[in-house]
Amino acid sequence: MHAMLNIAIRAARNAGKVVTQAYEQLDKVEATTKGTNDYVTNVDKAAEKSIIDTIKNAFPDHSFIAEESGLTKGTDDEYQWVIDPLDGTTNFIKGIPHFAISIALRVRGKTEHGVVYDPLRNELFAASRGKGAQLNGYRLRVTKAKDLEGTLIGTGFPFKRKHYMDSYLAMFGAIFAECGDMRRAGSAALDLAYVAAGRLDGFFELNLKPWDIAAGELIAREAGAIVTDFSGNTDFYQSGNVVCANPKVLKHMLSTIRPHLTDAIKA
Ligand code: IPD
Ligand code: CA
Ligand code: CA
Repeated sequence: MHAMLNIAIRAARNAGKVVTQAYEQLDKVEATTKGTNDYVTNVDKAAEKSIIDTIKNAFPDHSFIAEESGLTKGTDDEYQWVIDPLDGTTNFIKGIPHFAISIALRVRGKTEHGVVYDPLRNELFAASRGKGAQLNGYRLRVTKAKDLEGTLIGTGFPFKRKHYMDSYLAMFGAIFAECGDMRRAGSAALDLAYVAAGRLDGFFELNLKPWDIAAGELIAREAGAIVTDFSGNTDFYQSGNVVCANPKVLKHMLSTIRPHLTDAIKA
């Protein structure tokens, strides 16, 4: 295994300990709002610090873009770690056992390694570019579905931006009419990892941030998925609008979503 992936795994497991210990005493967790329906806790911050400390210890020159502390420029900004210390904070605060730590390494703008770690289930999803994706060491592969019939599609609701509700509900309705069933589980990083694992046949959400996407996108891609924006292009870091599925399901999802794109949700 690549030394940098190894460090990402170590950092994710260390943060996992911080998060699971805090989850056992949820009444002690301090939550504050940082935006509309958007929460941060002392645990998000402690987990993020633990991840950055672990990585800095091994690679003191690298740069970081992390959800809670933003950009930390190192002397070497060709190596940038993209970190979500706790993806699924709302689930965490409410005691719903579904959240993850997401860590990716981008080298000169290309994601090379990614880890999504579910600390309660001890499920570690990992990938290195060109080397496939694994769950706890076992190779992952997306499902073989050919169209939307009978599929299970994951999504996320635009709870921070409810002005997108009409367009989103139109897309949701169109997909729901065609697929088997849908899930809104509350962690975009795990949604992408679940597409990689064949637990979901596809996933779509709008307005995600780079730290929600970076690791899960590589893991899904290395398991055979394609990840695009709502127009089928690869600019999803710009818009945050993401569609992910095997190539055939993706084609059906895009053509189902397309009629409902508005000016506000162009790509
Ligand atoms: C959120 C989760 C959620 C998604 C939101 C994200 P956070 O991340 O991934 O599933 O719907 O858009 O912001 O805030 O829990 O790290
Ligand atoms: Ca997140
Ligand atoms: Ca987060």
